[in-house]
Amino acid sequence: MLTSAPSLLIPMMLWALLLLPSSLSVHKGGWDNPTCTSGVVSVSRGERAEMACNMSNPFKLISICLVVPGKECRLIFKDMAQGHFSQDGWRLRVQGRMAQLVMEEAQDTQAGKYKWEMVGRQRSIKCTTLNISEPPDLPFTPFFSRSTSPEMTVPQPEAISQRQRRTPMGPVLLLVILSILGLGLVLCWFRRRRSARTQQLLQEPVLS
Ligand SMILES: *[C@@H]1O[C@H](CO)[C@@H](O)[C@H](O)[C@H]1NC(C)=O
Ligand SMILES: *[C@@H]1O[C@H](CO)[C@@H](O)[C@H](O)[C@H]1NC(C)=O
Repeated sequence: MLTSAPSLLIPMMLWALLLLPSSLSVHKGGWDNPTCTSGVVSVSRGERAEMACNMSNPFKLISICLVVPGKECRLIFKDMAQGHFSQDGWRLRVQGRMAQLVMEEAQDTQAGKYKWEMVGRQRSIKCTTLNISEPPDLPFTPFFSRSTSPEMTVPQPEAISQRQRRTPMGPVLLLVILSILGLGLVLCWFRRRRSARTQQLLQEPVLS
């Protein structure tokens, strides 16, 4: 028995030495290291907004709440596991090490700071911010432009066509006047020549 103890100790020590690096690597890769959409996500009202968090380990649980000024954080999703979830205009997709929060038509009430509580191997909290801005095309501008367009656009082509008609009128009139004058001059010249000829013809027989 006494002789077998040291012979057993050596393989046990070797086994422990073999296990040590693997246990260290598990600890090294064990951190969730969550990274979330950084900065401010800015979309126009009614546009699609998207924020996400990734982790080094698969998500076990995830809760998201929206920080409301002067109130408690408004809970949107609580302790969700893997899968697709939907709640009041928010969609959450948790797939492996990725979680994605989507708003198909972002509203003013959805703007603010989102607090993500994530559980993988640890529990971590991260925040993302959503800013909703005025859409570039205000909803009443197309209405206004539509109501004014019949008055604005209908007389405009007329005015343009009148102007277009008027502008060539000047040169055309000038051409007509000039050609009439020219014709008149040519006619006058012909008449004079003819009268001169007839006078000659009249004078000739008298002379002969
Ligand atoms: C999360 O991971 C996906 C896929 O690898 C990547 O497309 C996305 O940009 C990542 N998001 C963040 C916030 O790190
Ligand atoms: C949100 O966007 C508007 C206009 O784009 C800007 O004036 C405002 O400062 C932004 N808010 C935040 C918190 O970034």
